[in-house]
Amino acid sequence: MTIEDPELSVLKWIKPRKEDRDKAMKVFSEVKEKLEKAIGKTYSNFEVVLEGSMAKDTWLRNNPEMDVFVIFNEELTKDELRNFVNRLAKELSELSPITSYAEHPYLTLSIGKFSIDIVPALKIESINKPRTAVDRTPLHTKFVLEHTDETLRDEIRVAKAFMRGIGVYGAEVKVGGFSGYLIELLIIKYGGFRELLKASKTWKPPIVIGLKDMPEKAKELKERYPNSVMLFPDPVDDKRNVAAALTKKKLGEFIMASELYQRNPNIFYFFEKIEDIALKEFNKFPLEIYSEHVIVVDLLLERGLHPDVLWGELKKVASSIKIELEKVGFTVANCESWTNEKKRAAVACRLEERVLEPISYVVGPPFVLRENSIKFIEKYLLSPMSGPWIDDSGRLHSLTIRKKRSPLQVIEEGLNNILPEDLRRGEFKVYRLTKDKLLSNDDISKWLKLFCFSKPRWLLPAYLAKAGIEVKEEELFEKELLGEK
Ligand code: CTP
Ligand code: MG
Repeated sequence: MTIEDPELSVLKWIKPRKEDRDKAMKVFSEVKEKLEKAIGKTYSNFEVVLEGSMAKDTWLRNNPEMDVFVIFNEELTKDELRNFVNRLAKELSELSPITSYAEHPYLTLSIGKFSIDIVPALKIESINKPRTAVDRTPLHTKFVLEHTDETLRDEIRVAKAFMRGIGVYGAEVKVGGFSGYLIELLIIKYGGFRELLKASKTWKPPIVIGLKDMPEKAKELKERYPNSVMLFPDPVDDKRNVAAALTKKKLGEFIMASELYQRNPNIFYFFEKIEDIALKEFNKFPLEIYSEHVIVVDLLLERGLHPDVLWGELKKVASSIKIELEKVGFTVANCESWTNEKKRAAVACRLEERVLEPISYVVGPPFVLRENSIKFIEKYLLSPMSGPWIDDSGRLHSLTIRKKRSPLQVIEEGLNNILPEDLRRGEFKVYRLTKDKLLSNDDISKWLKLFCFSKPRWLLPAYLAKAGIEVKEEELFEKELLGEK
């Protein structure tokens, strides 16, 4: 396999150059030294190591994230790990670290354009006894390094950029897509980016993929992960499904993007900033047509939450609002959620109707179900001016007067039950989207515009091509690299 265009052009942009690598190593040494000094005051049995994509040489120049692990060669309880991270945050206060607790506590900080995670982990010799979610990581690093050469790592970079570009990269709740490690394993399995796309042509969930022939392992995984759309046993711990976080939606987006890309390969699939170009197009459309049928729940949270928790809650809220609206008779095209991962969040729903008609038509039971039919008659006897009647098929029908016709009213009344404690404690308002709101410049408006447009990133290259909109490569690259922090 040789990498050809457009992948080759992409690689020129995303592959770290010597100067990027040197810079990364310099930043790592700096961090390592600081950490050793700070941690050395309390502990002696630990090691500071570079892990993740920088250690595996699978990182992207336009996404310089560094994973620095503090590996303890002794037992630490969950509480001790938590205290350790809190104390470390104080010691490193000059770097303004942010402390996060999801399943596992860690710190995030920035140095130059590098975003750095500092993660405590416990040393394990084999996979038999991982204590925390991250203890396997050093084994992943070793596995990927042992099973790739530079050419294959280039293929991995191309695959990661593709997944990132089309919006399916990352196992976090926000995305529910392909983790970096899953992509590495998929490329190791199939031998290249194009080979992966070709293989995906026959995928039907649940997709069972193993590095070696592991029918038994895969079967066991199916029992442990009955809802997974993809089962990929971790080669360093075959009881774990590397693809556990992948949702059907993101699998579908990847498969459709692959189909479209193979029909018309172009570099636009590899760059997130294609969205900005599409947004400019969107401004040319009659925005009120898009906005009038969209209802927004705008939330200001009382305190920040871990992104995984927040996204999880918002997704649930969006689907509950959809159900609530459908219950009273709205046809809901989609409800989606957004947050800046700080204190601002929103849910938007697009409806077929602006408001519901005053009268609705209800279908009752067949008369052979006597008790039900009598209940139906009693309920609707006085409620409207028409019905109930029995039609030729023997079923009861009626018209009735709607109590709730406004989507704003339905959502406002439902929200108290729908919002979880964390979100209810803040402030919220419910409003109908307007053209002005769409045209304003804040980040929520940008998201609302994308919501109205509903052409996700995996679809944009095909859309722009079909609509005859010219995209200049240089402009795209420039935008992308300006995004380098
Ligand atoms: N990891 C994992 N499963 C996940 C997320 C992370 O096993 N769902 C482990 C992997 O060992 C991974 C490490 O945590 O290598 C670091 O995570 P992350 O930074 O998300 O992945 P990288 O491999 O570093 O890829 P990149 O940073 O380029 O996205
Ligand atoms: Mg990483």
